[in-house]
Amino acid sequence: MNEKRQFVAKTLHGLEGILASELKAIGAENVEKQRRMVNFTGTTEMLYRANFQVRTATRILLPIYNFKARNEEELYGIAKKFDWTSIMDLSHKFAVDATVNSSVFTHSHYIALKLKDAIADHFRDRFGKRPFVDPKNPHIQIQIHISDQDCTILLDSSGESLHKRGYRLHQDVAPINEVLAAGLILLSGWDGTTPFIDPMCGSGTLLIEAALIAKGMAPGIFRKHFAFENWLNFEKETFEKVFNDESYERDIDPIILGGDISGRAIEIAQSNLKDAGIQKLIQVKKQSIFDFFPPEGPGTVITNPPYGERLKKDQITVFYKQLGDTFKQRYQGYNIWVLSGNSEALKNFGLHASNPTTLFNGPIECKYQSYSIYSGSKKAKYKEG
Ligand SMILES: C[S@@+](CC[C@H](N)C(=O)[O-])C[C@H]1O[C@@H](n2cnc3c(N)ncnc32)[C@H](O)[C@@H]1O
Repeated sequence: MNEKRQFVAKTLHGLEGILASELKAIGAENVEKQRRMVNFTGTTEMLYRANFQVRTATRILLPIYNFKARNEEELYGIAKKFDWTSIMDLSHKFAVDATVNSSVFTHSHYIALKLKDAIADHFRDRFGKRPFVDPKNPHIQIQIHISDQDCTILLDSSGESLHKRGYRLHQDVAPINEVLAAGLILLSGWDGTTPFIDPMCGSGTLLIEAALIAKGMAPGIFRKHFAFENWLNFEKETFEKVFNDESYERDIDPIILGGDISGRAIEIAQSNLKDAGIQKLIQVKKQSIFDFFPPEGPGTVITNPPYGERLKKDQITVFYKQLGDTFKQRYQGYNIWVLSGNSEALKNFGLHASNPTTLFNGPIECKYQSYSIYSGSKKAKYKEG
């Protein structure tokens, strides 16, 4: 359908600007940043593209019904009147989630129950039967957002969060979320033409996302399923067009290198690269960062060092100081981007930080900032200039 509708793309704190740019780049209109989400308008094809191509959205929602309610009974009554047969039929299993920010409505779980009853009773009144609820594997995922008395019902077009790309089957202790990894790379401005290094790569998430970005490969290519494929109005041909569109892929051979001191992490990274079918693009090696020598700059490092939960304070201080010294001595011409949940330890880097951003790695508040390592001293550079 070519009719344009409004959509909501959800994301992680701090990635709203990058997500807005990604949506504009695929042709979304009326792109508007909010807290941890971006509103936009577009056709059904745009909805499919946002799910398939955009790297920094966690899910894409379609608002279907806006109304005001003063209490739970009123909410139930209004929601029951909506024509739910336009969304699903009796064979669909469904689930409801509620997000409530209101002094009137306080229990999100109860709101979700009320909406679930309203949908079930709508069907029972009309057909004498009701569709089943399945919170784990629903065909149709419904959300209700309430702000004071303003209620919005939305359909979740993604299903499982979009950070679950489908390539990562193996994990080490602290893998970074794929959406966050892609966000870090896009925030750094790395364009695939210079070397990319993660010398503490763990399960390899940053390396894989870097390869996908450099080659212009859609993150959705590995996903087996999107919730919109269950919708009554699913347009198979439109989705096939989006799925088979290779126009944004790039024929370049990026240099992407990873290392980790843990042999187990490297084994996991290797099987993840294999799953993603991009093992030829990336080289990983069991190696300490202190034994690693990068190719000549310019280049980009993006890395997520240990935050030191399992180390004594003075050990982590020394570790971060050694990291800073290593970057200063060996990475001339590189931009080093570091995500760390230990901002105290970061102060021991001994390098001037730029572009500080606050991001969250799961529940952990982190600093993400960059360090430019000049080739030669600043003074020499100034003289040359
Ligand atoms: C927070 S984890 C990185 C997780 C990674 N970003 C991912 O998505 O899986 C930090 C990693 O640093 C590695 N590490 C610790 N000390 C190291 C060193 N001296 N050299 C290289 N890697 C090191 C750990 O083995 C661990 O895998």
